Amino acid sequence: MAQGGREVALEVFCWEKDHLLLLDQSKLPLEVDYIACCSHHDVAEAIREMRVRGAPAIGVAAAFGIALAAFKYSPESKDSLEDFLFEAAKVLKETRPTAVNLVWALERMLEVYQKRLKEKPLDEVRTGLLEAARQILADQKARDDKIASFGATLIPEKANILTYCNTGALATGGLGTALGVIVRAHEEGKRVHVYVPETRPVLQGARLTVWELREKGIPFTLITDNMAGYLFSRGEIDLVIVGADRIAANGDFANKIGTYSLAVLAFHHQRPFYVAAPVSTFDLGIASGEDIPIEMRNPDEVRMIQGTPITDSQCPVLNPAFDVTPHELVSGFITEKGVIKPPFESLASFLENPF
Ligand code: MRU
Repeated sequence: MAQGGREVALEVFCWEKDHLLLLDQSKLPLEVDYIACCSHHDVAEAIREMRVRGAPAIGVAAAFGIALAAFKYSPESKDSLEDFLFEAAKVLKETRPTAVNLVWALERMLEVYQKRLKEKPLDEVRTGLLEAARQILADQKARDDKIASFGATLIPEKANILTYCNTGALATGGLGTALGVIVRAHEEGKRVHVYVPETRPVLQGARLTVWELREKGIPFTLITDNMAGYLFSRGEIDLVIVGADRIAANGDFANKIGTYSLAVLAFHHQRPFYVAAPVSTFDLGIASGEDIPIEMRNPDEVRMIQGTPITDSQCPVLNPAFDVTPHELVSGFITEKGVIKPPFESLASFLENPF
């Protein structure tokens, strides 16, 4: 964030002694505020309320949530530590059903506990789980860096790029996924200009992506979500890059509601449509997009804009947080292991043995 002409890097996650400070994304960009999470319930609430959001960041937050559960656990409790940690994981898992990174991170944390910490004294379990959560964050940063490098090779020297939602530092705790690719291309001297749809109902594009692009000095134009077709029809979009919340074994993927419409537009106008995501976003246990659970959110998010009513307070509303884009519309997946292009039949083996 620019403060007095100086760039100040804001951390999404800060651990302080025995609690987690989370940058409150629901208040950005108008207010920079951190909330203190002292238990896994606080983290669950922050995820549910989208104070922390973006698939990889949700996973990292949940990992810290498990560490917090260990810090909260009392040896006098009637529950065993193991039961307490598994119950905490259940609470965290139920917060947002679509982003598979959440499940992935929770499984990693429970595995660390079971394989390395189970027989250790409570203090060691606490520091061990905290270390594991920090490692998940550090790994995400390293993965973002690789995604950015692989992805930047796909960006022409001069390009008008359409992205969606927020897939930057705020969404991962690192450089970001789709936005990280754009940032890297810009750093390499490519002349990129980004079209940013505002991303109703919660406005991650207008609030968060605009904020991040401005910080990085990357040229952009904010549009409303219904302007994308206008731009495609005038030849103003060279390519699209988005993130993902869950990618099925056949390459169908869920991402922020509205992504499917952009993919159809890109296909119709014969423009590349790339998806940038870490391997932890792939759910090979799910055959196709039909099996991806779609989160339905509070109707008031649609009836209001940032808490201000814009319609009848009781009007019927539909508010799915994500939609599914079929793999036929995807030009390539940009991962930390490289770029996977169609056909996606060998997706599983590529993820295990890239190149
Ligand atoms: O509801 P959100 O803001 O958590 O949705 C975020 C997205 O859809 C992102 O595109 C996705 O999580 C990828 S973030 C790197």
